This record gives sequence, C-alpha cells and structure tokens, in this order.
Amino acid sequence: MATGRLPDLEHDVAEVLISEAQIRAKVAELAGQLSLDYAGRELTLVSVLKGSLPFMADLMRAITIPVQIDLMEVSSYGGASTETSGLVRILKDLSSSIEGRDVLIVEDIIDTGLTLNYLHRYLRGKDPASLRICTLLDKPARRLVEIEIHYRGFTIPDQFVVGYGLDYGEFYRNLPFIGILRPEVYGAA
Ligand code: IMP
Repeated sequence: MATGRLPDLEHDVAEVLISEAQIRAKVAELAGQLSLDYAGRELTLVSVLKGSLPFMADLMRAITIPVQIDLMEVSSYGGASTETSGLVRILKDLSSSIEGRDVLIVEDIIDTGLTLNYLHRYLRGKDPASLRICTLLDKPARRLVEIEIHYRGFTIPDQFVVGYGLDYGEFYRNLPFIGILRPEVYGAA
C-alpha cells in the first residue's frame, strides 16, 4: 500500500460502526422487500466490483425470487486516496444485455454520488425496463450530485469506513464488519 506499511486489521480500526449482526439483519430486511417488490418480474442484480462483493453475495442469497446477476467494475478513486477524483472509468462491462429487464444496481456505498450518477446514465442507455439503486451505505454529507436511492441499508456520518468489502489501499475488505479507520492510518491525523 501507499504508506509502505502492512495494515494491522485489529488496530487500524478505531471503532466498529456497523456490526456483523446488524449487517445480517439489514441484508435480510432489504432482500425481503426486494423479493416482494420484484415478485413475478425479470430482476437482474448489477453489482459494482470490488467493494460490493460481500453485499451482493449476501443479498442475492437472501432474495427468494429468481434473479440473474451481472458484474461491472469501475474506478472512481485512484490508489490509496480517500477522496474521489470525479473520474469514472469502466474497467469491466456487463456480460449480457439488460434490454427490457428490471435492473437493480447493488452498491456498497454512495459518497459524492459521482460514480453512481455516471453508472446510472450508462445503464439507462442500455434500455432496461426499469433501473433502481440499492446501496448498503449512504454517506449524504459529501454528496455532489442528487441520486435517487430506492433501497438504503444505513445512513452513515462523514467518516472513512472500511470492511465488508470496503477498502483503504485495497486492504481491509475482508473485515466482517464496517469500521471507522483511524485517521492516522491515512495520514489525516
Ligand atoms: P462516490 O463516487 O464518491 O459516491 O464514491 C463511491 C465509491 O467510493 C465507493 O464505491 C467506494 O469504492 C468509494 N468510497 C466512498 N467512501 C468510502 C469509504 O468511506 N470507505 C471506502 N471506500 C469509499
């Protein structure tokens, strides 16, 4: 990582913000709602790598209606930075057509909203029957563009979080909970 220091998973997290149990309960709640809302329809879950991987894996297994999945990868943050660049690049595109399908974007976190704003416009251009957004975390304090969020797990304060897929410098994704990273780890202290 950029600091040249190996992360210490236990000590680099100042505080557990959302526990494993809280995540599990919220995923079940969201999946229950989605299963009701999309019953009898052609739902495709489109997840955004890499941060959404654990959320996608848990959410899809808790949904009780038939779904298809697809994966995209976009980059919005460069290197180990905690600030968005505003630049969005598609690193991996959809594998299948979403034309005429009901599509749900499954995201880990919406911060400035720039990534989702871009992605939403991009997917809308592929003529899905419907297009909605499901995010586990919403950090509204830093929003730069307005985003309509249909399914939201938790609203969190303006702090940099890691775990359950979320990284700093590509590490900490494997923590089973969501924690607040010590500011000194990213040099903000
Ligand atoms: P946005 O374009 O600013 O909304 O950024 C969305 C992306 O930034 C997310 O998919 C994450 O990869 C990353 N991100 C935003 N906030 C955090 C955070 O607190 N921890 C880790 N990654 C974050």
